[in-house]
Amino acid sequence: MSKITAGITGIQGYLPEYVLTNEELSTIVDTNDEWITTRTGIKERRIMKNGASSDMAVGAVEGLLEKTGTAPEDVDLVILATVTPDYPFPSTANVLCDKLGMKNAWGFDLIAACSGFIYGLSTGAQFIETGKYKKVVVVGVDKMSSIIDYEDRTTCVIFGDGAGAVMLEPNEEGLGVQDFILRSDGAGRNYLLQPGGGSLNPASAETVEKKMHFVKQEGKQVFKFAVTNMAEVSAEIMEKNNLTSDDVDWLVPHQANLRIIDATANRMGLPKEKVMINIEKYGNTTAGTLPLCLWDYEKQLKKGDSLILSAFGGGFTWGAVYLKWAYNS
Ligand code: UT7
Repeated sequence: MSKITAGITGIQGYLPEYVLTNEELSTIVDTNDEWITTRTGIKERRIMKNGASSDMAVGAVEGLLEKTGTAPEDVDLVILATVTPDYPFPSTANVLCDKLGMKNAWGFDLIAACSGFIYGLSTGAQFIETGKYKKVVVVGVDKMSSIIDYEDRTTCVIFGDGAGAVMLEPNEEGLGVQDFILRSDGAGRNYLLQPGGGSLNPASAETVEKKMHFVKQEGKQVFKFAVTNMAEVSAEIMEKNNLTSDDVDWLVPHQANLRIIDATANRMGLPKEKVMINIEKYGNTTAGTLPLCLWDYEKQLKKGDSLILSAFGGGFTWGAVYLKWAYNS
């Protein structure tokens, strides 16, 4: 019997309308377009002025269901990766299922920051591969503007809001998720975190006054870990699967910094033409970056293409997924 693989059968993104440019940011904090562009590659990012993460997820998943001809009640499972849930509980996956009438699905939120989508994709694939489920939706969504301090120039220029979602279904041609390597190191919490609002530092007048509900990042430290680990794990998954740079059609990297993306592509021996990049338009949307890349490049993807998805983020969390694209659009 041939092994069931989990193929991506559709991809859809959602971006809020408001465009926050480097020029506008330079009127808010002491920064400028030249610094942001040369240090990060970002030109603009989208901001969700009204609404929550679930609203962006609805935008993506509604389109996904339509595109894949899926009735909401046929979805078995929803895995929603985010660090900006609507509430501490219930889960945003629950809220999403309710808003879209996915009555027969159960779901959960997955916290792995910028690696959320690859963690979710790998997890979702297991439910398809075992034969347990036929339709699994994996969402990556973050409303980073809800946890960013727009007086802190070291973080506010980097992040943006957005969502993307994929449908996973059984594939009998061996396409879809082939392999993954996922890693984490909790010591990384010292360098990138949202210190307030959890059980350690519950919301109080003091946590608000100390701005503990905003993202705190030691950029230089995180950069060092990100460059090394994202490049290493991407090379490792190639070696593990006997892939040369010629065998890889696309690198789909987390969009945190163009310099980290370049270092990863170099380590893998891939030319720029094989690297998905949209950081200039959306910045770092945390769990949203990878599905938003796939969405932007969907028309260029061909059935059978080999893709390496690779990410590094808060936790620390990092990893890579090797997948074969399952359809022509
Ligand atoms: O996605 C999750 C994982 N996160 C990442 O992968 C992010 C990794 N880190 C980075 O991408 C980079 O470290 C940053 C883009 C965050 C910062 O770039 P950097 O080249 O590491 O800059 P830096 O933090 O070393 O700062 C260099 C200088 C400093 O000034 P001095 O001390 O040299 O006078 C900063 O104060 O740049 C200054 N600076 C800014 N200047 C203008 C910091 N932020 C800004 C800004 N505009 N927005």
